[in-house]
Amino acid sequence: MPTKSQLNNTSDVFSLDNEASFLNTENEWKRIVDELPDLIFVINLKHEIVYMNKTMLSLLQLDLSDVIGEMCFVCVHGSQCLLENCLHEKMLNDHRTHMLELYDERLGGNVEMRVVPYFNTSGKIIGSFHIARNVNNRIESQKEKENLQLQLLRAQKLESVGQLASGIAHEINTPIQFINSNISFIQESFDEVNEYIKVTKDFLDKFSEKFNKNDEFSSLAEKIEDFDWEYLEEEIPRSIEQSREGLHRVSSIVQAMKAFSHPGGESKVESDINRIILTTVTISRNEWKYVSVVETSLDENIYPVWCNVDSVSQVILNIVINAAHAIESKLGRNPVGQKGNIEISTTQKEGFVEIRISDTGTGIPDKIKNRIFDPFFTTKDVGKGTGQGLAISHDIICAKHHGRIEVKSEEGVGTTFIIELPNDPKEQIN
Ligand SMILES: Nc1ncnc2c1ncn2[C@@H]1O[C@H](COP(=O)(O)OP(=O)(O)O)[C@@H](O)[C@H]1O
Ligand SMILES: [Mg+2]
Repeated sequence: MPTKSQLNNTSDVFSLDNEASFLNTENEWKRIVDELPDLIFVINLKHEIVYMNKTMLSLLQLDLSDVIGEMCFVCVHGSQCLLENCLHEKMLNDHRTHMLELYDERLGGNVEMRVVPYFNTSGKIIGSFHIARNVNNRIESQKEKENLQLQLLRAQKLESVGQLASGIAHEINTPIQFINSNISFIQESFDEVNEYIKVTKDFLDKFSEKFNKNDEFSSLAEKIEDFDWEYLEEEIPRSIEQSREGLHRVSSIVQAMKAFSHPGGESKVESDINRIILTTVTISRNEWKYVSVVETSLDENIYPVWCNVDSVSQVILNIVINAAHAIESKLGRNPVGQKGNIEISTTQKEGFVEIRISDTGTGIPDKIKNRIFDPFFTTKDVGKGTGQGLAISHDIICAKHHGRIEVKSEEGVGTTFIIELPNDPKEQIN
């Protein structure tokens, strides 16, 4: 191995002025460049490839003779013209190194492309080096980090909304109770008033001939006629019934809001997730049978999951109902021909069970994907959606069972919800 001082003394070997040693240097240079894991190629001023390293040739499945003299945008990017953001052009303008991150299937996905000016021995630019480094792993872990941050943010948002919701639920509960008892009172009183009016009318009918000359009698009979009691007799019970229905709906929303803030105290037992899924699919049949078929593909070898059966079944139900709604929006209430499809599968993974629920519905537009887990976020008409299903599901899976819930969706194609429930005995927390 030559020492540094020896190298300085042997400057002739490395001197670029010396033809023979330059050739030697060039061969050495190519040998090293060929060994590097990065994709490297050299182009001249006219974008023609003058060299490409072995790593890149083998990725593109080409020989050096195939690429020499080819235009780089054709050979490297599969394009017919110069790229809009061509770094070589930029480099020609300012003689500096430029860098760009781009995605190109041909280059193996995400690459960081660096274009370095190539000077000849007299300092004139004769082309450029292109060095493309695969950054798939970095992009992947960046995405994972962003995803985790998003989940954390969502969990925090849900927690604060949960606290708010429980306060509101508590406040609403009391007036609801007295409205409920007042409605019951009005209903009973109405029956009595009705009875009273009927007796009065019968009386007036019975004695109308006898007293029709009496002014006071006639005026009372007229007033009662004007009341149009037949109409009220039908409408008042109907509006009482509708008020009851409305109250019932408000009560169930309040119950759901209360369920939010409970810190997961519900009892958990060792449960068979496949069984929970099959039962839930059966009981929700009425919700999906007109628009879809449900197919299950359940892994028989999954381990039991330590969970609250009612809550997990509620999650499955919420997602299946959403799937049926999405299919109904796409195909209509009574689709002619082929129905939609809901597929539910389970798989045992390392430390958790994965449940996938896919549908062939409308899909979720990108612009609302981030909001679907928000409490009260709905795109459905009043009465059909309250926007709580997914918020509650998120709370049940993430906060109460230390699992994960994620969605993948393509507009017009369908949606898949992926749920992970831990079933590693070491990790389970009561
Ligand atoms: N499978 C799905 N396909 C398409 N959109 C969905 C699906 N699941 C949920 N969504 C969207 O997410 C929103 C929130 O869902 P959710 O919290 O269950 O509330 P709701 O069903 O009451 O609207 C829905 O209004 C809908 O826009
Ligand atoms: Mg819903």
